[in-house]
Amino acid sequence: MAPVLSRSETAGSRRTVRIGFLGFGTVGQGVWKHVRENRRRLEARLGARLELARAAVRQAGKKRGVALDAGQLTTNGREIVEDDSIDIVCELMGGTGEARELTLEALRRGKVVISANKALLCEHGEELFATARKHGGQYFFEASVAGGIPIIKALREGLVANRFPLIYGILNGTCNYLLTRMEREGLAFEPLLEEARALGFVEADESLDVDGWDTAHKAVVLAWLAHGKWVRYDEMVVEGIRKVTQDDIAHARSLGYAIKLLAVVKRDFASNRLFVSVHPALVSRRNVLANLDGPYNGVSVTGDIVGTTCYIGRGAGQDATSSAVISDIADAVLWLQRCEPRRDEPSASPGVGREPACGILPLENVESSFYLRLMVKDAAGVLAEVASVMGRHLVSIATVLQKTAATPGRACLILTTHVTNERAMKNTVEELAGLESLLEPPFLLRVAAFEE
Ligand code: HSE
Repeated sequence: MAPVLSRSETAGSRRTVRIGFLGFGTVGQGVWKHVRENRRRLEARLGARLELARAAVRQAGKKRGVALDAGQLTTNGREIVEDDSIDIVCELMGGTGEARELTLEALRRGKVVISANKALLCEHGEELFATARKHGGQYFFEASVAGGIPIIKALREGLVANRFPLIYGILNGTCNYLLTRMEREGLAFEPLLEEARALGFVEADESLDVDGWDTAHKAVVLAWLAHGKWVRYDEMVVEGIRKVTQDDIAHARSLGYAIKLLAVVKRDFASNRLFVSVHPALVSRRNVLANLDGPYNGVSVTGDIVGTTCYIGRGAGQDATSSAVISDIADAVLWLQRCEPRRDEPSASPGVGREPACGILPLENVESSFYLRLMVKDAAGVLAEVASVMGRHLVSIATVLQKTAATPGRACLILTTHVTNERAMKNTVEELAGLESLLEPPFLLRVAAFEE
């Protein structure tokens, strides 16, 4: 039983719902500002009074765009989660240490926690939901994936009738911004990354963005929501965009593709297995996501009943993320008034409706075409050697381009393959990497065979 109603006060005929914040950075301030500015409209829609209560911050004296009274700030997050008058805790501090402790404590006290923290959800989701259920609270996370795009609600509510053979998308705005600028301006990755760092577009731990981990966290959340399985990192392919060069972009363009960092969640219902991957991919220009430029996110969801649906919008930033957090606040208020059912089950829960738990597809069963860039010695027999390695692993070559490299004696080979599988390609790349004629590690991209 959710004990929350007893904490809500009444003002006239309306309940007052008090909202506390853990972390008051860009998103926290955005949520505060937009709730304050839209309070009357939101209150009318929700039938409750919203009270912005307090925020826990690291530095109380810091100058902020949204100024709070001294009494509304604390440097002790426990004061927020232990405050019985606070019904909803917005965890916008990030990280998986203190954020986990404080979230669990709030959930143990039966509160609703709203979070944008995909890393925490990805690594501790099971524990968070179990704690929420046990103590009658809720854990909402619309802002954790694709910022302002309501993809969690789309999967959970709008598409509730469906099972999902394929979900893929661009889930990291920073990578999409960098790849777009590389493509449009012909600039190399490193100087662009440097510039993006200076503009504050890159996470403090930049590996989260450019090595694909932020996208991986979001992909794990989507996979859980769609398939009821928490996929571990060691069961996925996770590759970032650091090694993408102008050669790759130009060659992809000549073949009719753009290069995008994709998260792909594929489910094979026949074998009841799924595979989650994050990697830069060649995406056909006919696909709407290939034309999604700049810091935008886009998600394509194929449902067995609805067909393919596509969602595009801003995946990060104060306003877009605040919009998602406030939608969770609205759900939380309805939940607190008990107008809404629980929403913490994934679309497919093992055991529910006799749905058996699904497994992970072996690499042999994960198929696509590939793009392979090799820096080799420009010498007789090298191309034949490469082709022979690929042939041994039954990887069939579709196209070959050889470019003379700037350094004499070197050549850049760009190959594409016909459809093969991850295992064959992994073995091929490992063997190629050991060739004496290979001058740099092979660079591999997948060709996404998604036309919509
Ligand atoms: N660094 C992330 C991005 C922020 O660029 O998409 C939103 O998770």
